[in-house]
Amino acid sequence: MTEEIAQVEFRNVSLSRNDRLLVSNLNFSIQRGEALVLLGRSGSGKTTTMKLINRLLVPTQGEIIFDGIPTTEWNEIQLRRKIGYVIQEIGLFPHLTVERNVGLVPSLQGWKPKQIKSRVCELLHLVGLEPEKFAQRYPHELSGGQKQRVGVARALAADPPVLLMDEPFGALDPITRLELQREFLKLQQELRKTVVFVTHDIQEAFILASRIGLMHKGELVVLETPKEFMRSQNSEVLSFLQCLKSFTL
Ligand SMILES: Nc1ncnc2c1ncn2[C@@H]1O[C@H](COP(=O)(O)OP(=O)(O)O)[C@@H](O)[C@H]1O
Ligand SMILES: [Mg+2]
Repeated sequence: MTEEIAQVEFRNVSLSRNDRLLVSNLNFSIQRGEALVLLGRSGSGKTTTMKLINRLLVPTQGEIIFDGIPTTEWNEIQLRRKIGYVIQEIGLFPHLTVERNVGLVPSLQGWKPKQIKSRVCELLHLVGLEPEKFAQRYPHELSGGQKQRVGVARALAADPPVLLMDEPFGALDPITRLELQREFLKLQQELRKTVVFVTHDIQEAFILASRIGLMHKGELVVLETPKEFMRSQNSEVLSFLQCLKSFTL
C-alpha cells in the first residue's frame, strides 16, 4: 500500500522582507479533503502563509511541496489551475456579468461556449443563486453576500482540488455570514475539496475547521482539531477562547 502524499506540505518555511521575518519556521501538512482554518490576530501572518501556497510569494527559506512537488518546480499556470482563490474584496470584474465572471477561467482554458454555459449554470445552482435571475447581472447589482457566492462559484469553476479562502465572509453582516458558513459546510461535504480558510474570528474557525492552525507573530503556534484546541493551554489560544466567552453574559 502506498502512503498518501499530503496535498500541501510546509518544510521549514520562512519569509523575510527587509530583514524582518513575516513568517518563520512553518512546518505542517495539509491533508486532502481537510478544511484547515488559519486563525490569528491581524498581522500574524495568515495571508502571507496562504500566498506561499499558490506562489504569489516565494519563501526565503525552506520549501512548500504541492502534490509531492516543490512549488518552485511547478509551472506557475498549472499550479494556479489547481488552486481556487477567494478573497474578501472578491475581485469580480465590474464590467462583466455574473456568467462571464464565473466562466472566466474555463474560457481562458479554451472550453467550448456551450460547456462553459452549462458549468456556470451548475455552479450558480451550487452556491444558491438561480441562474435565470443572476447570470446576466453585473456585480453592482448584487448584495455583499451574493457577490461572495459568485466569488466562490468562480473559484470552483475549473474544479480545482484546493481552495484558498482569505477572510471571504469578513465583510458580511452576521446573519448572512452564518448562512454562508452553513452553505460552505454543506458544499464541503459534497465536494471534499482541500480548503485553507483564513479568519480572525474564532467562532468561524470552530464552525468550519477540521483542524485549526493558530498563527502568532509569524509562527504557527498550535495546530489541532477543534476539540483539542479547546483544551490547549497556549497563551494565545487562551486569549482567543476569551473572545468566545465574552459572548456569554
Ligand atoms: N509585501 C509585504 N512587505 C512587507 N511586509 C509585509 C508585506 N505583506 C505583509 N507584510 C507584513 O507581514 C506581516 C503579516 O501580514 P499578513 O500575512 O498580511 O497578516 P494577516 O493576514 O494575518 O493579517 C504583517 O506584519 C504585515 O505588515
Ligand atoms: Mg490577512
